[in-house]
Amino acid sequence: MADKNVSAPRATSNRSTVPVSDTFKQFISSEWAEHTESEPRPREQAEWAAARRARVSALYAGKRLIIPAGAAKVRSNDTDYAYRAHSAFSHLTGWAGDTVAGSVLVLEPTEEGHTATLYFRKAAGRDSDEFYANPEIGEFWTGPRPSLTHVATDLGLLTADLAEFGRVLDSVDSGTIILRDGDRDLTDQIDGRRLLAADADSLENDADTEFARDLSELRLVKDAYEIEQMRRAVAATKKGFDDVIADRDAIIAHERGERLVEGTFNRRARAEGNAAGYDTIAASGPHACILHWTRNDGPVVPGDLILMDAGIELDSLYTADITRTLPVNGVFAETQRLVYEAVLEAADAAFAIVRPGIRFREIHATAMAVIAAKTAEWGFLPVSAEESMKPENQFHRRYMVHGTSHHLGLDVHDCAQARRDLYLDGVLEPGMVFTIEPGLYFQPDDLTVPEEFRGIGVRIEDNILVTEAGAENLSVGIPRTADDVEAWLR
Ligand code: GLY
Ligand code: MN
Repeated sequence: MADKNVSAPRATSNRSTVPVSDTFKQFISSEWAEHTESEPRPREQAEWAAARRARVSALYAGKRLIIPAGAAKVRSNDTDYAYRAHSAFSHLTGWAGDTVAGSVLVLEPTEEGHTATLYFRKAAGRDSDEFYANPEIGEFWTGPRPSLTHVATDLGLLTADLAEFGRVLDSVDSGTIILRDGDRDLTDQIDGRRLLAADADSLENDADTEFARDLSELRLVKDAYEIEQMRRAVAATKKGFDDVIADRDAIIAHERGERLVEGTFNRRARAEGNAAGYDTIAASGPHACILHWTRNDGPVVPGDLILMDAGIELDSLYTADITRTLPVNGVFAETQRLVYEAVLEAADAAFAIVRPGIRFREIHATAMAVIAAKTAEWGFLPVSAEESMKPENQFHRRYMVHGTSHHLGLDVHDCAQARRDLYLDGVLEPGMVFTIEPGLYFQPDDLTVPEEFRGIGVRIEDNILVTEAGAENLSVGIPRTADDVEAWLR
C-alpha cells in the first residue's frame, strides 16, 4: 500500500495525451502561486474521536493498532466507485466524507497508552508530474488535498505523509493488530510482515477479529455528538420523503416512476449530505413484497401502495434508515389500511417496551406477537397465534421473514460485528440507536392468503433512541399513522 504512494496511474497510459517533453514538464512545473489553505480549526468531532481512541487504547495496552480508511474501489479500469471511508476509521478519527482515500490511523503503544498518527497521502509538489499526470490521485484531476498541518489541527491528531508508512510496516511484529476489512491489500502486507516476525503457527488472525468486534461494540452506545448527527440525518431524510411526495404527479406519469422516487430522494441526499446511506428501496405495488427491491425500475400506479425505504447519510457519515408505505392515490383502500394498521400496531407495541434494562430481542418478540395475532385473526395460520409463536412453529414469519430491529449509526446496519451477547441478547442502554421496522408482505402468488391481500407489502420503520427514561422516536415527525399519511399526501 505504501508502494501505491508512488505515482501509479492505472491503465490510462495507452490513452494519455499528456505531453511528456522536458519543455512541457518545466513549463507546467513553474509559476504557481503559493498554495493557500483556510485557517484550520479543530472540528467538533475531534474531541469525541479522541475520547473513543482513549477507550480503544485502554483495551489494547502494548499493541500496535492499524485502522485503515480503505482505498478507493475500482469500478472498471480507471473509474472508481464513490469513495467512502471505513466507518471504524471515521469513528476514531472524526474524518468523514472528506477523508483522503487510502489514509491509515496507527495507534503506536507507549508507556502511557498509545500515540495516534494519521498517515495520508499529502499533496504532491508542483515539481512532480503527479499533480497533473496522475488521474487517480493528481490534484489537477481529483482536487486539492489538505496539508499535514491542516489535518493535524482539524482532527487534533499527529499526521504523517503516507510515503512514510514504510516505517510502520518495518516495525510490524506479531503484536500488531489490523482492522482487516479496512483495506485488504494493506492487510496482506501486514500479514506478510507478521509472518516474518512470528512462527507461522502463532499467526492466527483471532486478534484482528476481536479487534473488529471491539470497534463494532464501541459504537453500540452513541455519544452526544452522534445522537445529534442522528437527529440531523432523520431531519434531512424527512425532507427527502417530502420531495418525493411533492413530485408525485411526475412519478405517476413516468413509466419508471420508482426510478424517479429514487432520483428525487437521492437529489436531496446529495444536497443535504454525503449520499443515501444505502441503496434506496422504491417498491411500488407487489415490488413491496421484495424486501430489498433496489432495481426500482417499475411504474408507480394509483391504487397501489409504494414502500419507500431510504435514509440520508450526512457528511459526517451518520445515516438515517426510514421506511414509509404510502397509498399512491392518497387514500388507503380497505385491505391496505387493515394491513397498514396491523403493522403500525406491531411497531407501536415494540416501541412501548423500549427502555434501559430490557433485552434487544424483546423488541422483536413484542412486534412478532402482534404479527402472529393479526395473521391468526385473519385466518392465515394453520394454528393459533400462541401455537405459532412457539420456536418450533413460527408460521406467521412467512409474512415477515426479516428482523424487527438493527442498530443504526455510521453504518445502516451498525455494530454488525458485535457479539450476540451485546447485540441480539444485549441489554439496552441509554444512547443506543436502532430501528423498529415491522412489516407484512403478502406475495402476489401466496395461496395462503385471500386474493385481496396478495401483492400488498407494508413496512413502517422508525429510528429509536434509548433515553434514561425510556425511548424517543427520532422519526416521529415523519407521518406514520394511516390518517396522518393520507393528510401528508393531501
Ligand atoms: N433499510 C434496509 C434494511 O434495513 O435492511
Ligand atoms: Mn432498516
